[in-house]
Amino acid sequence: MRKKATVIGAGNVGATAAMRIAEKELADVVLIDILEGVPAGKALDLMEAAPIEKHDASVIGASGDYSQAKDSDVVIITAGIPRKPGMSRDDLLATNMGIMETVTKGVAAVAPDAVLIIVSNPLDAMCHVAYNASGFPKNRVLGMAGVLDSARFRAFIAMELDVSVENTHAFVLGGHGDTMVPLPRFSTVAGIPITQLMSQDRIDALVERTRNGGAEIVGLLKTGSAYYAPSAAAVEMAEAILKDKKKILPCAACLNGEYGITDLFIGVPVKLGAKGAEQIIEIELTDDEKAALNHSADAVRGLVEDLKRLG
Ligand code: NAI
Ligand code: 2OP
Repeated sequence: MRKKATVIGAGNVGATAAMRIAEKELADVVLIDILEGVPAGKALDLMEAAPIEKHDASVIGASGDYSQAKDSDVVIITAGIPRKPGMSRDDLLATNMGIMETVTKGVAAVAPDAVLIIVSNPLDAMCHVAYNASGFPKNRVLGMAGVLDSARFRAFIAMELDVSVENTHAFVLGGHGDTMVPLPRFSTVAGIPITQLMSQDRIDALVERTRNGGAEIVGLLKTGSAYYAPSAAAVEMAEAILKDKKKILPCAACLNGEYGITDLFIGVPVKLGAKGAEQIIEIELTDDEKAALNHSADAVRGLVEDLKRLG
């Protein structure tokens, strides 16, 4: 039977994610937005590209009609407002909290068995909103950030060493914000840790660029935030779930004592399969890495407290 993926928010990230899912023939796609006409227009445009791109996935758009999302296997939520220059992800908290609550309730009612992939910012806090609004078990609510942040780190490593991106592997843990925790020790080129391939100064510079990766693009685009890499990252997660790949990717997941953290969504390595988060992988961290992860967890906890005040 064909798989079904719903993407909520037909903006930059959502529409590009819909395109990638269709072009990879991972599933039939439903694109939902609050705007009239836009999701239907983008869906039709994607269907008209299908003969050229050679795929038979169907893409339909719906304005606020959640019944179209019925029985989706995966739902990617990108609805919300993106950052403008000078705004932090956290500035988005109040607006996106309301949007996330509404759209999650809408989709959870018609797709009760779906795995949710949250994209809207501030990411880790939005996972909490979606988790509470959906009533879904923890394993079926995941956030996309680590795949993107790791891909940025990998791109910078490949540029620095003039090697294929395919040779690179990187891990970024923690919240999707200034406190994220890139882990050079677990970041490799053809299996060789980058700590053996470049100076500490250069590693520090790449780590800093990764931390600022989102802001660097906002500064250049001026009218919105990144979407090619973010949509690719969300679709890598969706693919792992739709194909039951058991692929280990860094995702925001609700921890239950792992890494000494409880009841908090934060980025950790997760095994992704048809059931969503099938296992949280605990790796041994050095004292410094642990301290950085705890610092990041404190920042996410602060936002979750803010959510409670706003709610
Ligand atoms: P965008 O502005 O291009 O698209 C957002 C879409 O959401 C718009 O089409 C808007 O009409 C729609 N929307 C707003 N309220 C809605 C509602 N109640 N129901 C349905 N649709 C609604 O923004 P973009 O660039 O696609 O970014 C989307 C979100 O993803 C932002 O919050 C952004 O910060 C976040 N983001 C997160 C990343 C991550 O790593 N987790 C990476 C990139 C973006
Ligand atoms: C990014 O990292 C804005 O969170 C988004 O590009």
